[in-house]
Amino acid sequence: MASDGESPIAELDSDEFRELGYRTVDLIADYYETIEGRPVYVQASPEDVVAAFEEPLPEEGEDPEAILDAVEERVVPYATHNPSPRYFGFVMGSGTPLAPLADAIAATVNMNTGGWHPAPSGTEVERRCVRWLAEAIGYPTDTGGLLTSGGTMANFTALMSGLRDRTGYETTGAGLQGDDRPRYTLYVADHEGHSSVVRVADMLNLGRDAVQRVPSNEDFTMDVDALERMLEADEDEGDQPFCVVGQAGSINVSAIDPLDRIADVCAERDLWFHVDGACGAVGAMVPEFESRYAGMEQADSVTLDPHKWLFVPYECGAVLVRDRDVLAKTFSMHASYLRGSVAETPEEFDYYEFGPQISRGFRALKLWASLKHYGLEGYRELLRKSVDCAVHLDGLVRSHDDFVAVQEPNLFIYSFRYVPTDIGETLAAPPAVPLERVHEYLDELNQAITDEVVQSGLAFLTTTTIRQRRALRTSICSHRTTEEDIETVFDALAETGARLDEEWRESASLPV
Ligand SMILES: Cc1ncc(COP(=O)(O)O)c(C=O)c1O
Repeated sequence: MASDGESPIAELDSDEFRELGYRTVDLIADYYETIEGRPVYVQASPEDVVAAFEEPLPEEGEDPEAILDAVEERVVPYATHNPSPRYFGFVMGSGTPLAPLADAIAATVNMNTGGWHPAPSGTEVERRCVRWLAEAIGYPTDTGGLLTSGGTMANFTALMSGLRDRTGYETTGAGLQGDDRPRYTLYVADHEGHSSVVRVADMLNLGRDAVQRVPSNEDFTMDVDALERMLEADEDEGDQPFCVVGQAGSINVSAIDPLDRIADVCAERDLWFHVDGACGAVGAMVPEFESRYAGMEQADSVTLDPHKWLFVPYECGAVLVRDRDVLAKTFSMHASYLRGSVAETPEEFDYYEFGPQISRGFRALKLWASLKHYGLEGYRELLRKSVDCAVHLDGLVRSHDDFVAVQEPNLFIYSFRYVPTDIGETLAAPPAVPLERVHEYLDELNQAITDEVVQSGLAFLTTTTIRQRRALRTSICSHRTTEEDIETVFDALAETGARLDEEWRESASLPV
């Protein structure tokens, strides 16, 4: 409703705008104050959520106060509360407190960071963030790079650059319609390679089969000897390998591939070396973790997502590409850049020449504000806290008879299984009985435990598949999580497991 009462499309008057703003800030502050006590998962049926938004497209404008009422009454209560200290799903940053304020200001000034002229300060803030991220993880600071919507687009940007740089695949001209090409292949660990790499192969029209799965070691890291054998064999077949993707903090178990060895293989064979550190690359900023990342500094490109383990709210991914000329050659639509020249002066620097987006929002502001707010030392403390929580959980798992560890605790993602003691003993003994039914039972049990705890609102976690078996998966990616939260959730998982096992066991007729 217009404040002047004349036109429904007039601006809000300043006083009314301030009132709405103060109310919004109160909503945000109340939210943070009450986040611990909120049920993590929506306590309404999917039908209720659909019904809550069942309304016609408004013909007439509405009163902004009523719109904020609707946000308070319908949007916030029907959310999954990812900022909760007991949210362990997917890999989601828990939301830094300055970010909503920064986002509001970014939306107000509304710079288009596609170009320097529409966004002088926006461009420089982003450039500074890219440099700071590189510096924080020990990557060359004169790197190219940019912020993206997330890890998938960061991987896309990196792999398209690698494809352009290391093969004759010239998409600016004939593209796929060009004549004879070899099959361009890329390599990632079989267990932990992230699905986004497959999506990127698809987006680049290489076909999903171009992603070759390299066998893994016991600890879920890439077996580099196997990688070398695969590269040989594929070349003999006439394929053209162009890239190896190493994981720095993998999706199920936080594994870090032997990046230094992969770097050597790539250097010897002139392959693009990409590190998918969407989840875990930022761990390299902690001095006592740094050695695990040896070799990452040699990568041609690195993905790291501030909207994951830097706790920045969506959306904020990032990619670093060592040689910014390659980014320019890949994405520039200007003939001058195709000749290999990049901007020399600040005002020639247009991000649309260095990445897939043309119009771009000012996502850097929330990252810049968060990096300044915590500082490196503050962030290091938060990262250590996440890792300590994963180590604590591992200790609880190993000291409980009905849980089984499936990994060493690496960074902040930790998977494990509920396996009642007697079933565990049967599985450990030589198989005297067919075990398939037992495995199915355990898979169903682990899924049911997860579903029940999630539905209760106490915590959000997911299941995953570890070596063909269903496991509980926790991504402890909240700076609010404490070891007490871990204990509370672990106790609930144990209690739910014992109860469901007792309820189900008789009718399950297991051979144990
Ligand atoms: C290792 C890894 N790479 C890439 C991605 C994709 O990131 P996004 O979901 O931000 O696109 C993820 C997402 O979890 C990931 O864990």
